[in-house]
Amino acid sequence: TTAHAYGQSDFPFEPIPAFTDNTIHVPEGYTWRPVARWGDKLFSDAPEFDNGHGAEGSDRIFGENTDGMELYRVGDAEVIAVNHEYVNPALNIPERETPTEEDVMTLMNLQGVTVMEVARGEEGYDVVVDSPLNRRIHHNTPMRISGPAAGHALLQTSADPSGTEVLGTLNNCGSGRTLWGTYLTCEENFNGYFGSTDAELELPEGFARYGIQHDSRYAYELYHPRYDIAQEPNEAHRFGYIVEIDPADPESQPVKRTALGRFKHENAAMTLAEDGRVVVYMGDDERGEFMYKYVSNGTYVEGGPTDGLLDDGTLYAASFNEDGTGSWLALTPDTTAMDTAMICIHTRQAASSVGATTMDRPEWVAVSTTLPEAYCCLTNNSRRAEGFTNAGGDLAEPAPGTPNPRGENRYGQIVRWRPEGGDHGADAFTWDLYVMAGNPVVGLGSYAGSDNVTEGNMFNSPDGMQVDSNGLIWIQTDGDDSNEGPYSGMGNNQMLVGHPETGEIARFLTGPSGSEVTGLTWNSDRTVAFVGIQHPGGTWPDGGDSLPRSSVIAVWREDGAAIG
Ligand code: FEO
Ligand code: CA
Ligand code: CA
Ligand code: CA
Repeated sequence: TTAHAYGQSDFPFEPIPAFTDNTIHVPEGYTWRPVARWGDKLFSDAPEFDNGHGAEGSDRIFGENTDGMELYRVGDAEVIAVNHEYVNPALNIPERETPTEEDVMTLMNLQGVTVMEVARGEEGYDVVVDSPLNRRIHHNTPMRISGPAAGHALLQTSADPSGTEVLGTLNNCGSGRTLWGTYLTCEENFNGYFGSTDAELELPEGFARYGIQHDSRYAYELYHPRYDIAQEPNEAHRFGYIVEIDPADPESQPVKRTALGRFKHENAAMTLAEDGRVVVYMGDDERGEFMYKYVSNGTYVEGGPTDGLLDDGTLYAASFNEDGTGSWLALTPDTTAMDTAMICIHTRQAASSVGATTMDRPEWVAVSTTLPEAYCCLTNNSRRAEGFTNAGGDLAEPAPGTPNPRGENRYGQIVRWRPEGGDHGADAFTWDLYVMAGNPVVGLGSYAGSDNVTEGNMFNSPDGMQVDSNGLIWIQTDGDDSNEGPYSGMGNNQMLVGHPETGEIARFLTGPSGSEVTGLTWNSDRTVAFVGIQHPGGTWPDGGDSLPRSSVIAVWREDGAAIG
C-alpha cells in the first residue's frame, strides 16, 4: 500500500469555479505574485523593460513565453531553469515588411532558456539580479552534440564539418530533470525556424515528415545561412533533440543528447528501471505521432558516474492494444532496417517502421512518485477523422478501445500505463484513460467526458503535467478559452489537481484570458509553487495600458503550509 497525505476524496483546498477574466485565481487561503516577467532584468546592466529596445542587452533579460521549468538546490541557493518557447515579433520588434538583422538577433536572444537564482522576498519570491548563477542560453549559445548521431554525415555543416558542435537550442517547450541534478530542455517545433531562399528547392529527404518547409517563422535564413535549407540543408538535422544543461555551472556547455531521438519533443520524464537503468518517457507533440521511451544500457548509482547514461541506450515507441495491454517496441537496426545514428535522426520514420500507435498529440509525460504508473496528456486532435494520416502516411483513425477513441477530439485525454511487474524497464504494460476530458453539460456520448469530469471541474486540452511528492497529478491546460459552445463552462485555461487513486479532479488555478498555463515546479520545502503563464492576453500582469507579459508566478498558502 502507498502512503497518501490525504484521504480518498478531499483535497486540502476549496476548488475554484471557472473564470473568464484577465487575472489569476487561486483557492481561498492562497496568494500569487509574479516572480519573473518577460523583459525583467537578470543583470543590473540590462536595459529597462521596453519592447522594441533593440538587440543590445536582450540576452540579459528574462525571455518571452515561459514554458517548462525545474527548480534546483545549488549550495544554499535555489535556482530555476526555465524555457522560453517562442517569441511574438509584434511585441518585440518594430513592424516592417522585412525584419532587419538586428530584429532577428533580438528574437534569437529572447528565446531559449533562462537559469536564474530566486530567493524569498518580502512577498513570495524574487529573482536574485546579478547572481553568478544567472544565465541566458539562446539561439546562438554554443553546445555540444553527443550520442549516436554526433558526427554523422547528416549533421555536418560548413561551419561544423565535425558534426559535433552547434549553436543554440530552438523552441524549448517542456522540461525534465535528471536524477543527477541537471536540467533537460526539449526542442519542439524546431521546423519553423528553417526556411529556403530558393523557392524552387526540392526538400531533402525526411524534411516533410518533420514539417520543414520553404517558409520560416522569423526570417532567420535572411541573415544566418545555417537556417537557409538551400545553403545548409544539414543544419535542421541538428535540432529536435533533448538538451542537458547543468544549472549549477554557468560555464558548462549544454549537450544535445541525440540518443533520446529527434522529433517534436514535448518534455522528458526520467525514472529508473528496477535494475538501475535510466528510463526516460517522452511525447512527440504532433497529430498522429508517437510516444517514446529511452532505456540506458548502463545503470545509475546515486553519486556515481553518469557518463553515457543519456548517450548509450535503446529507444522504444509505444503500441497500445484494444484489450488494455500494450508494449514498447524497440527501435533497433534489426527492427527498423536503419542504423543506430539514423534511428536517432529520423526517429519518426523508425517508429513508423515498427507500427507504433498513432496518438492524439502526446504532450507532457509524468511518472508517479507513489505508484508504479505514468501518465501522458494527449491534448486534442481535430483531425483524427477517417482517413487522416500523419506526414509519414500512418493512418490515425478514431479507434474506440484505444487511448485515442474520438474522431473530432477537441477536448483531449490523459492515458495512464502501468509497466509489467511495476518495472519501468519492462517492455509490456497495461493502460487505461485516467481522464477523458469533455463537457458533461453540452457534450453528448464520449464528448461528455469520463465520470471524473463534472460541471464543476471541466476543462479541455490537458498539456503540462507534474506529479508532486504525494503522488498528486497537476494538470495544466492549453486549449480553447472561448467559454462558448462545446467549451462553455470551461472558462480560461487552468491548472487542476487529480488524485491518482480516486480519480477526483479539482480546479486549483485559472489563468488570465488568452493564456495557457504551462510549467510547474516547487521550492525546496514545497511551500511555494512556481507556475508559468504563457501568451497572456489583455494587459496582464501589469495592468494599465501595458503589454501582456508572459511570466512565472509564485503561488503559496497564506498559512505557510506545503502545497499539494
Ligand atoms: Fe510546446 Fe506541445 O507544447
Ligand atoms: Ca505544451
Ligand atoms: Ca499545447
Ligand atoms: Ca505553448
